[in-house]
Formats: sequence, structure tokens, C-alpha cells
Amino acid sequence: MAGLLSNFRNTVIVSVVLALVLLGAFATGPVGTSEIFWQGVVRWLHVFFGILWIGLLYYFNFVQIRKMPDIPAELKPAVTKHIAPEALFWFRWSALATVVMGVAILVMRGYAHEVLTMGLAGGYTASDKGFTLLGLGVWLAIIMFLNVWGIIWPNQKRALGIVEADADTKAKSTRIAMLASRTNMLLSIPMLVSMTMYQTTFG
Ligand code: HEM
Repeated sequence: MAGLLSNFRNTVIVSVVLALVLLGAFATGPVGTSEIFWQGVVRWLHVFFGILWIGLLYYFNFVQIRKMPDIPAELKPAVTKHIAPEALFWFRWSALATVVMGVAILVMRGYAHEVLTMGLAGGYTASDKGFTLLGLGVWLAIIMFLNVWGIIWPNQKRALGIVEADADTKAKSTRIAMLASRTNMLLSIPMLVSMTMYQTTFG
């Protein structure tokens, strides 16, 4: 067991295998392997990638950005050269995977058009309120995704020295990346209200 747990890759493989066994058990439930079942599978993947993405966003905001100023200069490269690039790798790709799975749910549930237009598609009626509320969360998450790939990652590349930049540009990029990351932190908590409340309250 200790042998397994000391190897990250094998631990992930075993975790996925256990998840697949559990999914197999759900496949014997009332909906079998109908489309509803696959919608559940996509929701599982969506939430898994969402946790990985937002978990790393929270690591940056709750821990790294706040503690960086306390780290002695000679120790900072441990974070900027080793920890941050690895965290950013999982961060940006899990953001993409979350969006892909989120869009797949929109399509599978057949309400992509209604949600993305916040209920305005085909005229607004009282029954469109749920689409507005879910649409708000989905758009917040899409803005967060564009922020990751369009602002945070390009600026972090300069800030961390992954691409060449002079000292002034580097300092500016560090500040922009920090503010963009804080923006996503700000948007994340209301975004999650919308994601998680919709099914419970509107079905
Ligand atoms: C970036 C674009 C995103 C899109 C297009 C998207 C889309 C969706 C959709 C359509 C649902 C199903 C709502 C329903 O009918 O119940 C959903 C649920 C959910 N999403 Fe997202 N989402 C996105 C980002 C995120 C992020 C960043 C997180 C962070 C963890 C997240 C977490 C969740 C959770 C926890 C649920 C509830 C799952 C359930 O009740 O089964 N989503 N999302």
C-alpha cells in the first residue's frame, strides 16, 4: 500500500479504476446506461476538473500570492521555477477540461441556447428565470476561463521567466497576473452558487 501511495501516477490510476467500478454499479440503477447515465458521467468529470482548476486557483489566492512576500529572495525560485509552473500546467488544462465538460452538459440537457442567452432565446417568460440564473454562473465561468488563457497564463509566462522579458515588463506582468487571478477568486464564489443551486431548485 505504501508502495502504491508513494507513486502519484499509480495512485491516480487506482483512484480512476475505483471510480469506474462505482460508475459500473450506477449503470445497474434505474436509468441503466441511457443518456441520463452519461449525463451523470459528464457531470462527474465536470466537477472533477472544476475542483482541480478552482482548487489550484484557491491555492494561488489563499496561499501562494499571500505568502510570497514573506519568502526570502534566495528561496523564491523554489516557487517561481518549480512549484508555480507545475501548478499552472494543471491549472490551465483543467480549466479547459472543465469548460469542455460544462458545454457537454449544456448540449446533453438540450438547454445550451436558453442558458447561454440567459433565457432570452425565443422571448422571455417567467419560466425562463432558471436559465437566467444558471446562465449567469456559466458566463462567469466562461469569463474566468478566458481570463486564465488570455491574461493569467501569458502574463505568468513573463513573470516566471518561461518567456524572456526585461525587468520592468516582468514586474508589470506579475502585477497583472496577480490582479487577474484575484478577479477569478472574486467571481468564483458566486459562480459556484449558480452551478450548484440550479438543479436543486429548478430541476
Ligand atoms: C467554464 C464553463 C462552465 C460551464 C459551461 C459549466 C456548465 C455547467 C452546467 C450546464 C451545469 C449543469 C447545471 C444543471 O443543470 O444542474 C453545471 C453544473 C455544475 N458545475 Fe459547471 N460549468 C462551468 C464551470 C464550472 C466551474 C469552474 C466549476 C467549479 C468547480 C463548476 C462546477 C459545477 C458544479 C459543482 C455543478 C453541479 C453539478 C451537479 O449538480 O450535478 N462549473 N455546470
